[in-house]
Amino acid sequence: MLGDRRSSFPDRARLGRAGFETGSDLYERARPGYPEAAIAQMASDLGITRDDRVLDLAAGTGKLTRQLQAGGAACIAVEPSPSMRKMFGRTSTDIPVLGGTAESIPIADGTVDAVVVAQAFHWFDAPVALVEIARVLRRGRGLALVWNERDESDPVIAELAGISRWDLCKPYPVGMDFGAVIDESGLFGPVRRTKFRFTQHLDRTAFVEQVASRSYVQLLPDQERERLLDEVAAYASTLGDPIAMPYITDLFCARVVR
Ligand SMILES: C[S@@+](CC[C@H](N)C(=O)[O-])C[C@H]1O[C@@H](n2cnc3c(N)ncnc32)[C@H](O)[C@@H]1O
Repeated sequence: MLGDRRSSFPDRARLGRAGFETGSDLYERARPGYPEAAIAQMASDLGITRDDRVLDLAAGTGKLTRQLQAGGAACIAVEPSPSMRKMFGRTSTDIPVLGGTAESIPIADGTVDAVVVAQAFHWFDAPVALVEIARVLRRGRGLALVWNERDESDPVIAELAGISRWDLCKPYPVGMDFGAVIDESGLFGPVRRTKFRFTQHLDRTAFVEQVASRSYVQLLPDQERERLLDEVAAYASTLGDPIAMPYITDLFCARVVR
């Protein structure tokens, strides 16, 4: 059994990069998109209008990018993982995706109308990334950080957190106030935080895949990963089918001060 042997798990610093070098297919299948109400709020807070140039930073397989593009934005994406970029290329054929990181964005100064970061800002070197984000934004334009958090007040999610060792391995405290991190940079105006609720309905296979798509699970040694996923599957078999997975979407928006 894995028990509490935290040493089995990779060092947190490796997770953000290495944890997304594999499993992009799983990620694309199992993770939810973002609620339309959150996209509308983001567009309103950042003043995004048709054909605005929007950078999806750490775009992954393009889940948020595709939603913004469908709403009329002219998106571009930056993503460091070749595996994620390959999947992005398959799912989002009409959107350019560049290799790069938040700490060194491969885009010229003052050339984008909005920067959005979904489910990824916690991996960044925040002070460095915020300077880079402010650099690429046009005057007075804005940044949105968004997360889909599984609702840990739900008993199924709370139990899953223990079984899947999420309680030991989560890379930041769920519900953390990232607005304070933005504020500390002194580069952005007041942060507006809004939350949205939605529920994903997963069959048992997708329930297990959703855990498998987490970066700390991807980086476990094969045998340990299989054992952990077997435990999650055993738990899933005690639940209904489909299984309701409630989420809280946490959105932070702010405009650059210059
Ligand atoms: C959980 S995925 C989120 C992907 C996508 N934004 C979404 O919402 O589905 C986190 C992404 O952050 C990327 N990432 C990790 N560290 C990064 C960094 N320093 N700069 C840019 N991207 C990074 C990973 O490669 C991965 O694709």
